[in-house]
Amino acid sequence: MSKALLAIQGVKTEFRLGRARALQAVQGVDLSISAGEIVGLVGESGSGKSVLALSMLRLVQPPGQITDGHILFDGEDVMQMSARALSAWRGRDVGMIFQQPQSCLNPVKRIGWQVAEPLLRHEKIGRKAAWAAAIDLLRAVGIPAPEEKVLAYPHELSGGQAQRVMIAIALALKPRLLIADEPTTALDVTIQAQILELLSERCRTLGTSLLLVTHDLGVVARIADRVAVMYAGRIVEEGPVEAMLTAPSHPYTKGLIAAAPQLGQAQGGRLKDIPGAIPDLSRPYAGCAFAPRCELRQSLSLKACDNAQPAPTTVGSAHTVRCFGAAGSIQSEMRVTS
Ligand SMILES: Nc1ncnc2c1ncn2[C@@H]1O[C@H](COP(=O)(O)OP(=O)(O)OP(=O)(O)O)[C@@H](O)[C@H]1O
Ligand SMILES: [Mg+2]
Repeated sequence: MSKALLAIQGVKTEFRLGRARALQAVQGVDLSISAGEIVGLVGESGSGKSVLALSMLRLVQPPGQITDGHILFDGEDVMQMSARALSAWRGRDVGMIFQQPQSCLNPVKRIGWQVAEPLLRHEKIGRKAAWAAAIDLLRAVGIPAPEEKVLAYPHELSGGQAQRVMIAIALALKPRLLIADEPTTALDVTIQAQILELLSERCRTLGTSLLLVTHDLGVVARIADRVAVMYAGRIVEEGPVEAMLTAPSHPYTKGLIAAAPQLGQAQGGRLKDIPGAIPDLSRPYAGCAFAPRCELRQSLSLKACDNAQPAPTTVGSAHTVRCFGAAGSIQSEMRVTS
């Protein structure tokens, strides 16, 4: 794999809940994204995906704060950037797309100017050239009759079209990295996959790296190079998409895949069908956060699961897992002997 474009190491992000308590949303995450790579970030609700995505761009708002770790972008230390450097970096090199496109668009400004705005601000081009570029950008994201749609206002667009416009805006300056946090959740289910395919196609064409936060493992299977699975603030498994989907190692990843009907691996079900819930992230726990829900722990009776954090173990090429019981990482002394 080529050199990382974005590399985060040991990142911890918490929300202070009072003087003595804090919710540990991200609990020491290492993750890297190479140039041109598409990484899927999956995990059930509350696992910390959005907070991690915001942390990567230093966009976490108080009472949230990054308390530890490093964020390197093309070798540059993002944690040390001044407010000015940070805002230039966010405007130019990285972009983010959120769930609700309509709320990110200015309701009283024509679409064309909203698409042209980053070009006018960052590229030395005139209004006429920016307007023409906006038409091209709208065409590239599949907006029909872009010459007319540039004149439209956001309320005249469907949800899918608004998200296409957001993609056009986010990619107008050809950023090197785009973070998309469940960008289609608010859309009609029939067009969600279409929009995600469009997003990946545009990123591939432009050579933009993409971190895609999604619940849709079927889409991840089709478009991602790599997948990271998050649970209770940690990445519990990470690897190439094919290995992750055909030979998952962590019991939680296995559960997610078994519960994804579109992959044809199991009969029906959704993520919430894994019995139990994510632990309260404001209460410290000694062992693996998944242990209380883990079938493997129950069947293997591994002492360590309740007492220590599993370190990453390599289970394949560029494929790591944090599980005491996963293939290749069982340590016999950890078994309960009775
Ligand atoms: N502003 C906030 N204040 C306090 N706690 C927060 C805040 N934002 C997020 N959290 C908490 O951080 C944890 C991780 O939340 P996050 O939104 O990252 O989850 P997620 O994986 O993105 O879930 P979803 O799939 O529902 O979007 C949750 O326990 C959540 O309640
Ligand atoms: Mg989220």
